[in-house]
Amino acid sequence: MRTEFPAKGTPWEDLKRTMVDMGANDIDWRHGRNGMYVFYAGEDVLRVAKEAYTLYMSENGLGPMAFPSLKQMESDVISMGLSLLNAPEDGAGSMTSGGTESIMLGVKTARDYAASLGKNTVQAEVVVPFATHLAFDKACHFLGLKIVRVPQAEDRRANVKAMEAAITDRTIMLVGSAPAYPFGLIDPISDLSDLAEKHDLWLHVDACVGGYLAPFVTMNGTDLDIFDFRNPGVKSMSADLHKYGYCAKGASTILYRDKSLFEFQKFDCDTWPSGRMVTPSLGGTRPGGAISAAWAVMNYLGVEGYRAKAKIITQTRGKLQAAIEAIDGLEVFGDPKLGIICFGSPDFDVNVLWGKLFERGWFLSLTTEPKGIHLMMTPAHEQSVDQLISDLEELVPEVRASSENAEAPGFRYS
Ligand SMILES: Cc1ncc(COP(=O)(O)O)c(C=O)c1O
Repeated sequence: MRTEFPAKGTPWEDLKRTMVDMGANDIDWRHGRNGMYVFYAGEDVLRVAKEAYTLYMSENGLGPMAFPSLKQMESDVISMGLSLLNAPEDGAGSMTSGGTESIMLGVKTARDYAASLGKNTVQAEVVVPFATHLAFDKACHFLGLKIVRVPQAEDRRANVKAMEAAITDRTIMLVGSAPAYPFGLIDPISDLSDLAEKHDLWLHVDACVGGYLAPFVTMNGTDLDIFDFRNPGVKSMSADLHKYGYCAKGASTILYRDKSLFEFQKFDCDTWPSGRMVTPSLGGTRPGGAISAAWAVMNYLGVEGYRAKAKIITQTRGKLQAAIEAIDGLEVFGDPKLGIICFGSPDFDVNVLWGKLFERGWFLSLTTEPKGIHLMMTPAHEQSVDQLISDLEELVPEVRASSENAEAPGFRYS
């Protein structure tokens, strides 16, 4: 039944109570019961994000002239992102509402850059590894491009040789991820960078998940392949602040190795009676709160704070990984080094295990090829990992012994 527009207002205190009650059945992310959607880094970080968000909630990022405050904050956020990801001095970019928008803009910019070189960009091709986020399909769909997905290598990362074989005279762009969402693995970005340079193609690195985590994992001493702008073929990167940046939702960054490339992102229009508008991102109005919260959280944590969070995440993921590898019938996919871990089984249907974990209050996600259970670990999982391990130890022999199959996965995005 359709909800009627209320004839009269309701006092805020009553509404607040109702809204809190509405959340009673939501997943318990504060205690690390989720494998996705919320990146909880503690009450203190959350408080900073909330207070900073409300400070500039009414202001509008569309108006840098009216709000030099937001202009400065966005410029600081972008500068911090560029330096963290080792962009050249001339690097540039903008904040966006999230990973999908950053990707959409990265693809649009690559397309318009290719067009500026005289290439035909109608249904031009974007070559991506199989595990690349489907935001690229969305971007290609919206932009009149064709996405070409290439099967991954045996180690479940990008197969650079196969990607080279997929390049045609219609190709304008290559993509690698750091890491790709399904298995949490960083693609061989330096090889992709060489490939992009060899064929004179745009390489975008999707670091939506790893952009604000992997640099700190490296600083903590883990040897990761170089995935950022230090690879000369990398023209653009997407990196989300509302994931491992622990910022309020609606915050990501799209970054370019130089200002001239960023120019292709902007939409400059003067066709209506209200005057010229130059917008860098997809939206018109942009929430000031997402910008101010990002600025505040980044300054609140600093490198020291992010390193401390990264340490908790990698230690917790390592603990879970070791426990999974010790359980008969389970195997971890690939060799994850960040916060994502995905595991499956050669001898039973992990969708059944997912269902049993769900019944015990775990909200994890699933992969389909191969079937796997997936989680994106945050600092909150430090407190829940032992329980998850003991649930797995208890449930796996039970599921293994039964011949149950779950035809339809219990998890869905919609
Ligand atoms: C690797 C990767 N890229 C892009 C995205 C899309 O980000 P968003 O959900 O913020 O649009 C995600 C989301 O999980 C992701 O994991």
